[in-house]
Amino acid sequence: MLSLDLRNIHSFVSQNELEGMENEIIKSIQTIYERTGAGNDFLGWLDLPVSMDEKTLEEMESISNELRKEIDYLVVIGIGGSYLGTRAVSEALKPNFPVNSGENPELIYAGQQIGEDYLHDLLLFLKDKEYAICVISKSGTTTEPALAFRLLKDHLVETKGQEKAGQRIIAITDEHKGALRQLAKKEGYRSFVIPDDVGGRFSVLTPVGLVPLAIAGVNIRDLISGAEKMRAKTGKDIPFSENPAALYAAARNFLYHRDKFIEILVNYDPRLHYLSEWWKQLFGESEGKENKGIFPASVDFTTDLHSMGQYIQEGRRELFETVISVKGVQNKLLVPSDKEDLDKLNYLAGKRIDEVNKMAELGTRIAHVEGGVPNIKIEIDSLDENHLGQMIFFFEIACAISGYTLGINPFNQPGVEAYKRNMFALLGKPGFEKETEKIKKKLDQEK
Ligand code: PA5
Repeated sequence: MLSLDLRNIHSFVSQNELEGMENEIIKSIQTIYERTGAGNDFLGWLDLPVSMDEKTLEEMESISNELRKEIDYLVVIGIGGSYLGTRAVSEALKPNFPVNSGENPELIYAGQQIGEDYLHDLLLFLKDKEYAICVISKSGTTTEPALAFRLLKDHLVETKGQEKAGQRIIAITDEHKGALRQLAKKEGYRSFVIPDDVGGRFSVLTPVGLVPLAIAGVNIRDLISGAEKMRAKTGKDIPFSENPAALYAAARNFLYHRDKFIEILVNYDPRLHYLSEWWKQLFGESEGKENKGIFPASVDFTTDLHSMGQYIQEGRRELFETVISVKGVQNKLLVPSDKEDLDKLNYLAGKRIDEVNKMAELGTRIAHVEGGVPNIKIEIDSLDENHLGQMIFFFEIACAISGYTLGINPFNQPGVEAYKRNMFALLGKPGFEKETEKIKKKLDQEK
């Protein structure tokens, strides 16, 4: 189960004030379900938990089963929405340290930045490894993954030969358009489609996330069924007071209008680090436009209590926290007793390590709320596929509700083009000659 606890925002936003947002939030929910808002041609994610057809699921599982027998590593090539969802789910579920069972191929990533040394080291690492490539790009033309794919494709052909390499490359891209679709057709790669009406950051429950996750041994059916469960709990007929996504969207919008401009997603389990990275993209790219939007940040506690904790406790009071709290851990470890007790920890002897973590969580919450930082808590029973599916859909629908309530189009990302234009102009890409001239002049003026 996923539950939302808003009690620790009530010294900043009263229950009445929150309920006062009901009409506005209900309007946003109607806009989503009636598909009448800006960006309504990108609402395909809304039905993904119930629309995935059995044939595609079986096809994904069958390719996964075949590759899983052959490979130790899967290189996932993609950036932004084409990789963060996979990484969020996979890192949340895999053991903290590699258990050398050889059961599940390890996911490694490329094309999520342009580090030359990174790519060099990756090619070196893969030299004597059994690996496959899953290349993911909706547009099929994004520079970072395209660069990485050029290098890795050649490497796989060199080490395995043309035919075997062809069998070990899976392409996930647009059904018709883009360079990757063209290449997949030409080379005969097996491929899956990213639906037209699903944007990158909402695409984890399409083949974008499901194919690499299935190869990594994740139960993708449980992931989807978790999302389906949350979809049922957040539908348009659910009353405002019982809809966790509506309440979360209301709370964060209200806090924003009380000058709480930064939301920090907090976890107490290092495996949730990449869920925060996925969440930051989801909310940052959806809401940060027209000079508006909450800035999404994240911390890993208790680690960051020893770095960012000071700022959160006593810095500028424009923050609020959303804590993901996992009720049950999977393993049992007790604090050992020590004859000498030099570290004075014997008072904890016999207690679960998780109890110490939970008291750190509680103590931090009390301190931060007292320090002026409202605290929203999202609690899940355990870290498994089903709960991750619930969280994914919860945040997606909450993000759409929040975006419409803020008055922006949550489904476009016009701002990400600015750096690309400059980069292409600086690199001399054909078709960017005018921009090259403009940027040269600008740089000359700076001299
Ligand atoms: O959410 C988005 O739309 C972006 O983050 C894209 O996923 C990212 O830019 C990668 O684009 P593409 O899949 O076209 O390579």
